Amino acid sequence: MFSSIVALSLAILAPSAYATILDVNVGPNGQFVYEPPFVHAAPGDIVRFHFNPKNHTVTQSAFDPPCVPLQDGFRTGFIPVAPGTNPLPVQEFHVPDNHGAPLWFYCGQTAHCGQGMVFAINPPAEHDPQSFQAHRDLAIARNGTAAVSPPATTYTPAPEPHWTPPTTTVPYGGGMYASHEPAPTYAVTPQEHRILVGADGKLAYSPANITAAVGDTVVFEFRPKNHTVTQSSFSNPCVPLEHGFKSGFQPVAADATEFPTFRLKINDTAPIWGYCGQVNHCQSGMVFSINAVESGPNNFAAFQQLAMRPSTSSRQTAGDNGSNSAGMVVSPSVSAAFGTFFLAGIAAAFL
Ligand SMILES: *[C@@H]1O[C@H](CO)[C@@H](O)[C@H](O)[C@H]1NC(C)=O
Ligand SMILES: *[C@@H]1O[C@H](CO)[C@@H](O)[C@H](O)[C@H]1NC(C)=O
Ligand SMILES: *[C@@H]1O[C@H](CO)[C@@H](O)[C@H](O)[C@H]1NC(C)=O
Ligand SMILES: *[C@@H]1O[C@H](CO)[C@@H](O)[C@H](O)[C@H]1NC(C)=O
Ligand SMILES: *[C@@H]1O[C@H](CO)[C@@H](O)[C@H](O)[C@H]1NC(C)=O
Ligand SMILES: *[C@@H]1O[C@H](CO)[C@@H](O)[C@H](O)[C@H]1NC(C)=O
Repeated sequence: MFSSIVALSLAILAPSAYATILDVNVGPNGQFVYEPPFVHAAPGDIVRFHFNPKNHTVTQSAFDPPCVPLQDGFRTGFIPVAPGTNPLPVQEFHVPDNHGAPLWFYCGQTAHCGQGMVFAINPPAEHDPQSFQAHRDLAIARNGTAAVSPPATTYTPAPEPHWTPPTTTVPYGGGMYASHEPAPTYAVTPQEHRILVGADGKLAYSPANITAAVGDTVVFEFRPKNHTVTQSSFSNPCVPLEHGFKSGFQPVAADATEFPTFRLKINDTAPIWGYCGQVNHCQSGMVFSINAVESGPNNFAAFQQLAMRPSTSSRQTAGDNGSNSAGMVVSPSVSAAFGTFFLAGIAAAFL
């Protein structure tokens, strides 16, 4: 009831001539805070949120529970912002005429709210049981690491149902990092990209060319047959790169229901090239790229053509067979010079 009044007011309240604009920084200096952490505002005032680099939200909640979206409440959705963005994207909240009742907000990004990234409009004074500090403490108690420890790689973002995409244009992503600039030092919530190796019996990676951000993980999942994931270079698509990553051969039975995987952490924005080391697979076009610059000459299509070229320079040489340092002795976690392998689910028949 109360929340729908707020939502309605948002829709009909036009900025009045007397509106005060209250500027709030979201995640300044990479910190999980709103600055200032709360404001006192009158009906019709505008709270203008400036989104600093990273990937935050402003999502309305109740006092209790914190870190949980209020039904029909205000929400910006995720606003990813690349480092160096100027001007910062903004989102405005129009303060409704709710008789000065407190309004509570948080960042919906995984783990941020639990680290105290909450905000309030018109919170009661310090000594009140529903003060700003009391709300922040509750958020940390309920959603902090003491309450839950989020898994290291497989992040499930907190549910953000029904959010509307921001109207602000947010420059971000592929193009901005498709260069050899030093790796950004920040990390948005890492993503996991899955590439199927030899899906449906085809000599292909699906998808064969992806873009992935620094900090992301690419998971190769081996389907039946006997493939590898072997790093190479653009100019020699079917020749292993010295000190490059190698999964080794991953034989998978035709009727397998569990598939071994090979995980690769993305550390920078430089293009990564690779192929299947099984005899003649690379020459059949079984290659992949990560972060290839598609607008340039060294794009995925050019790489694949080079792999399939009937010349010896791109051919696999004897012994370059993609075996990893542990050969066929596959364990759940094998550390190699350039990669940590997590291989599981190999059909027992092949061990
Ligand atoms: C906080 O914890 C509650 C209860 O476990 C959960 O429903 C909610 O999604 C969490 N919020 C965030 C932002 O992680
Ligand atoms: C921002 O975070 C959300 C939730 O974690 C995620 O789905 C989205 O892909 C992220 N955006 C970028 C550009 O990283
Ligand atoms: C997988 O392929 C390699 C290279 O061709 C071969 O040495 C190995 O025996 C194969 N493994 C199985 C189980 O077929
Ligand atoms: C994959 O490669 C094709 C051909 O070069 C290109 O058209 C497409 O945009 C690429 N996709 C990605 C995600 O890079
Ligand atoms: C693969 O190559 C390594 C050396 O790079 C060699 O020791 C090994 O015997 C080869 N394996 C096969 C199956 O050809
Ligand atoms: C990124 O760095 C980690 C740790 O040094 C390493 O295991 C991984 O192989 C690297 N990723 C790539 C694509 O080289």
